[in-house]
Amino acid sequence: METTVTEISDGIYRLSTLTDAVPGGFTFNQFLVGAEQPLLFHTGLKGLFSSVSAAMASVVAVERLRWVSFGHWEADESGALNDWLQAAPSAELAVGTIDTMLSGNDQAIRPPRALADGEVLDLGGKRVRWIDTPHVPHGWDAGLLYEETTGTLLCGDLFTQGGDTSTTEGDIVGPAAALEDMMSATSLTPRTAPTIRALADLRPTTLGLMHGPSFSGDCASALQALADDYQVRLDKALAEVG
Ligand SMILES: [Fe+2]
Ligand SMILES: [Fe+2]
Repeated sequence: METTVTEISDGIYRLSTLTDAVPGGFTFNQFLVGAEQPLLFHTGLKGLFSSVSAAMASVVAVERLRWVSFGHWEADESGALNDWLQAAPSAELAVGTIDTMLSGNDQAIRPPRALADGEVLDLGGKRVRWIDTPHVPHGWDAGLLYEETTGTLLCGDLFTQGGDTSTTEGDIVGPAAALEDMMSATSLTPRTAPTIRALADLRPTTLGLMHGPSFSGDCASALQALADDYQVRLDKALAEVG
């Protein structure tokens, strides 16, 4: 398994591992925010740790990692947490207050640093803001990170799609809708579309997809179109149950 490195915005690196989980390829992407206090968003699967950590080492020494964060507890997001905490002695888990309460206090080998909704972690040269997004795309504990100096939204499982492209300025909504048709991975609730529309209000310049290419271009319109797609799905589902 090989993990490739792409700088998607100034000092933010996509560590991408291509698998054959769906026809045409499926990526598992972790994001390294390079700063005085480096942060990794998504740990990756435990089984990918050796490959992802080797990729990180080409950018920054693994033992320098200061923060580990992810959008929700699930093997591809959080599975290798303690491998990273063991490899980097000063690293701490930094996730939302709900993640910390539900799982972090129990699962992490060191006490987590809980981040309130909207709280900014100053990494020295980069600033990441934690945003609670309960049940979006799934999980009560769900949240995302927005890096303020580059306008990069690390958007986790939002826009999940197949393929092996690393960056794009093209359509990311159509491929995401196609995979959602196959997988139904997203929780459809009355808050799904409004939560995504609030992310569009950030007006990010880059979207770091956990599964798919990193997107640069009109991110607000892409997020609004994704919200529209989920609203249609929810309305249809509600109509079906009467
Ligand atoms: Fe997930
Ligand atoms: Fe994921």
